Amino acid sequence: MAIEWSGWGPQLLLELDRASGMPLKSQVEQHLRAAIRDGRLAAGERLPSSRALATHLGLSRGLIQECYAQLQAEGYLTAHTGSATRVAPTAAGATPEISGERAAKPAAPLIADFPSGVPDLRLAPRQDWAWAVAQVCRTAPNSAFDYGPANGNPRLREVLAAYLRRVRAVDAYPKQVLICTGVAQGLGLILRVLARRGHARVAFENPGAVRTARDAAGSAGIEAVPVEVDEHGIDVAELARSGARVVVVTPAHQWPTGVVMAPERRRALLSWARANDGVVIEDDYDAEFRYDRDPVGALQGLAPDRVVSLGTVSKSLAPALRLGWAVVPLSLVDDVMAEKMVADRGTSGIDQLALATLIESGRYDRQLRRMRAVYARRRAVLMNAAPGPITGLAAGFHAVLHLPAFAGEREIVAAARARGVGVYGMSDYRADSSAEPGRLVIGFGNTGEEAIVTGMAVLRGLLKE
Ligand SMILES: Cc1ncc(COP(=O)(O)O)c(C=O)c1O
Repeated sequence: MAIEWSGWGPQLLLELDRASGMPLKSQVEQHLRAAIRDGRLAAGERLPSSRALATHLGLSRGLIQECYAQLQAEGYLTAHTGSATRVAPTAAGATPEISGERAAKPAAPLIADFPSGVPDLRLAPRQDWAWAVAQVCRTAPNSAFDYGPANGNPRLREVLAAYLRRVRAVDAYPKQVLICTGVAQGLGLILRVLARRGHARVAFENPGAVRTARDAAGSAGIEAVPVEVDEHGIDVAELARSGARVVVVTPAHQWPTGVVMAPERRRALLSWARANDGVVIEDDYDAEFRYDRDPVGALQGLAPDRVVSLGTVSKSLAPALRLGWAVVPLSLVDDVMAEKMVADRGTSGIDQLALATLIESGRYDRQLRRMRAVYARRRAVLMNAAPGPITGLAAGFHAVLHLPAFAGEREIVAAARARGVGVYGMSDYRADSSAEPGRLVIGFGNTGEEAIVTGMAVLRGLLKE
């Protein structure tokens, strides 16, 4: 995609050799041709105005105008009266590409898509975020632009600790809060620390975030073992047999079945952890969006010395912000901080302050209230329109559609796609990739009400065929 520079346009590195005897006009032309051919200037990209480039190079404006005219005549540049000079659409030569990035054929547009885990991107809090960053840039001391503590900005840690105590009943004190770039990073840091402390295995929920768990465990050098989830949550008896003393769970809204971990299961899980000197890693990724009951508190609040609680703004604000946190037992705090130091020396200090500002101003809560109402409406539409039993709707913005026994999961996914509807099978989340029993994981975070109705109607048609 062509870059739309505002103001001066690209700062081209044009080095002129005034001693070479080669006319300066020829040198400028040669540099521009080369920049276009090797992709430093992309098709459609706007060049600096002749005045700006002339000033920059210490040449006359007339000379630059002549260069531009010459390259236009050669087909490298285009210019229309009153508009900027640009690189011609077909001029760029072999633009270097990241493998596969542009080569992939654009997929046919979908009339309805149900990816899970994505919040509504059209309603991302652009204005609030811009306001918060502007506030920080206007008011923060110069020291805010320096390196900060690797475990996070003290103000954000304090604000988050208070927020998590209030909203999630997390037993959190600022010293235990580590700011990271999301659950993904938090999980990786913790597993590496635990691996160094001698843990050779980590259990994860099945179905679950199978790929993420395996990748994170692999990168920490430990084995990932799947443990079944039933309608009450993870099977603690099977966990006890697995040989792992570390487990990753999603108790508030299991990913992806949507099961809420039952109270007796929570108790059994924590007893297992105490009896085995175990560690429970709680992924509290979407608990803010709870519909028909009061939110269940985080597991961490019941056993702060045994549970690491991971949270993120990826669902509440936007995944692109890459901000999250880990509330860590005191016994692990120093090691996790050291690991974060090695990983990236700390998360962006300005973004951390922006999040603290957003929470303190009440705008974070306001965004949650707004989005809760949006997702609640979509959830109701989905419940009405679904062509079969649907479960897992207590929280978050995904649910599970149960397919009738005669309908193959993979066939339905393929047939729906052929009709422009993106649905995703539970087999993607099962450790053995089994498509039995047939289930679809239906995300509705980034899918409007009309698209939900359309998509479900297509599925209904398929299930009748
Ligand atoms: C189970 C689960 N936890 C957490 C996350 C969020 O991860 P992150 O905070 O790294 O964006 C996701 C993203 O989809 C997820 O599926």
